Amino acid sequence: MSNNASTIMNDAVALHPWQRANHLTSHNNQLMIDGVNTCDLVEQYGSPLYVFSEAKLRKNATEILTNFRQAHPNTTVCFASKANSNITVLQVLREAGLSIEINSGGEFIKAQTAGYATQAIVFNGVAKLRSELELVIAADIKAINVDSLSELERILSVAQAIDNCANVTLRIIPEIKAGAVSGWETGTSSSKFGMTREEQITAITLINEHSDHLTMTGIHVHIGTQVNDASAYQKQAEFLIAYAREVSELLPYPLKHINLGGGYPKNYSSSAENWNNVSPHYCDNYRTDIGFDAIADILIKPVANALGSNIEIIVEPGRSMVSDTAILLTTIEASKIRQQNAVFYLDAGYSVLFDIFSGWYFHMVNASKSDDTATQLCRIVGPLCDSSDTFHDIEGEGRIKSLLAMMPGLSEQRAILETVLLQQPSLRELPISTKTGDIIALLDTGAYGLEMMNQYCGRQAAAAVMVGSQKSSRLIRRRATVDDLLHFDVY
Ligand SMILES: Cc1ncc(COP(=O)(O)O)c(C=O)c1O
Repeated sequence: MSNNASTIMNDAVALHPWQRANHLTSHNNQLMIDGVNTCDLVEQYGSPLYVFSEAKLRKNATEILTNFRQAHPNTTVCFASKANSNITVLQVLREAGLSIEINSGGEFIKAQTAGYATQAIVFNGVAKLRSELELVIAADIKAINVDSLSELERILSVAQAIDNCANVTLRIIPEIKAGAVSGWETGTSSSKFGMTREEQITAITLINEHSDHLTMTGIHVHIGTQVNDASAYQKQAEFLIAYAREVSELLPYPLKHINLGGGYPKNYSSSAENWNNVSPHYCDNYRTDIGFDAIADILIKPVANALGSNIEIIVEPGRSMVSDTAILLTTIEASKIRQQNAVFYLDAGYSVLFDIFSGWYFHMVNASKSDDTATQLCRIVGPLCDSSDTFHDIEGEGRIKSLLAMMPGLSEQRAILETVLLQQPSLRELPISTKTGDIIALLDTGAYGLEMMNQYCGRQAAAAVMVGSQKSSRLIRRRATVDDLLHFDVY
């Protein structure tokens, strides 16, 4: 049998729930990403290691542009670079046709380094520094999204000082609650973001009085992240249509754009089937049917139809552009048995993947044994010196399963057990063959992972590689060194 034929047969039988055609597959019992063996990557580049897929980045960019521009040709997609500002990632997304959203002077420099034109940049943030404003007003970026009246006054003063005209877009509070977890909402006055209607009326008066130095380019709304509720997008569209009309009455010129923000949800589950037994709380957070096509229908089309073809629609997706474009490879460094379950210690904890600190769920595959069925209930923890350094589960319902195994009589009470026990189950499922030295892959780690790495416990930040065409791979972020740990201390 030829090598090719055996690959095809192997892939054909290896139908794992996490498998994604032509992207994440299993070959000879090892996890492959875009045809590249993940265990080989760790051997070549070390562990822990983020692995990005160039093909997936380009696919996501094409998918959002196609769907949104079919709904409204004059749509600009500004990638929210806070989700991932690695220069190579930014370059790939720029080449694929995206513009960029920045949140600081630092991200401005990164956007410029990645080759974004200044007119492709929108600037968000709640406390922009004077020095940052000087930079972006001098560069004449597309829009500064203004978060408060005091910030508008600062923008005016900088624009006057350098005698330039600043393009300002006002961020309004729509009072829409969105995002399944409290604290994720950014569209209500209980959050720290945006301006009230009254503040905006005062702001528009100021803008009109200083038309030499301020141009009002648009209005902006961003309601949260992982917003998995179609009705929130409907409310957002209705709100913006009414508000754009109201604002237009107060301006001597038409609004150029409406900025709808980001927050689109992505699946963090391995497969739909695995969700049959998962509590609604976790389904709401980590599983979604809302893709870019749905957002185009619910949000983009109504706004465009109501406000006309001349209006430019801007969107700022972060997570949904990059979350499924990377996996994190991490090695089991130690193990022990506690309460009859194996505990496996990885070389990556929340200093490498910060979201696990707040219990975010990432699906896990034993990359060294990717064909072996995950039947062993175990705890997976990181190397850091505190208990929140734990990879929690939601799929597999490990905690409930182990309880029911011990006390089968409780099975009729499963619904009650779910509400009481499914806060943050800490047992996960891996193959029984799992052992020290195996490489574990955490899926969907492309958003906010690289950005939030830190040096807690004297640990060095992970490296990152990009898998490109023809099974090539290249380093896109070097591993931190011990010298980097000493770099900031003055002694
Ligand atoms: C103003 C603004 N736009 C866009 C985003 C990106 O959100 P997401 O990554 O959920 O798409 C954020 C995230 O915090 C944001 O604050």
